[in-house]
Amino acid sequence: MTGNERKLIEVADSTALAEVAAVRLLARMAANPGRIAICLTGGSSPKQLYELLATEDCRNKIPWERVHWFIGDERFVPESDERNNMAMARRAFLDRCAPAANIHPIPTDAANPDEAAARYERKLKAFQGDDRLDDPVRPLFDLVLMGVGPDGHTASLFPDYPALQQTERWVVGVPQAHVEPFVPRVTLTLPALASCREMLFEVSGAGKRAILTRVLAGEPLPANRARSNGETVWLVDTAALPEDSRAA
Ligand code: 6PG
Repeated sequence: MTGNERKLIEVADSTALAEVAAVRLLARMAANPGRIAICLTGGSSPKQLYELLATEDCRNKIPWERVHWFIGDERFVPESDERNNMAMARRAFLDRCAPAANIHPIPTDAANPDEAAARYERKLKAFQGDDRLDDPVRPLFDLVLMGVGPDGHTASLFPDYPALQQTERWVVGVPQAHVEPFVPRVTLTLPALASCREMLFEVSGAGKRAILTRVLAGEPLPANRARSNGETVWLVDTAALPEDSRAA
């Protein structure tokens, strides 16, 4: 698969969005009989999906012992801070469902974001077993979840920031955020995020319509530059879609 095409799937609302995302996530897990790696995201968009994964029906379909959970970006705040992305995922489902050893947060107890990034990069490389991100048979992640911010950022890759140009590093520190919360960030880079079988964006609500219009117009925003080496899917609810892009 070339990975440069984007597939857009329209769903009715945020509930349907979480349900379709869960079905796709479960399908990716079912397709891999070995060790599975999922890269989660922060923000408010994935919360409904996370809560759904903890419900009995979903929970029973996930091979928890074989699934490893990473995070695509983190706000550089302690895990006890409610703005911490992995802490949100932990509260929503991980702590109730996943073995502790399979949860891999970005270490925000590091001295600074750069050190946290270097540590997480080492962890990802040890997990992958080598330095390659471009092996089509063995990508880093089975599925990478993503969101899009009002300025077109994704993960903590903000428009015009140097982190976007990274081709070598897997994880970098971002000293300043472009949007709230204005705390330093740590983010996976475009090549690391691309190393997956599926990149799944979740976009919901009328508040996203303006940025989605720009994304669909092909502006070179970070969210548009983030593409999987495998499949790239944008799950979008009707309220977020510009009217001329909606199904009749
Ligand atoms: C973060 C995120 C970020 C997020 C978008 C969308 O740390 O904030 O990882 O990239 O996905 O900003 O956020 P919402 O889902 O809250 O709109």
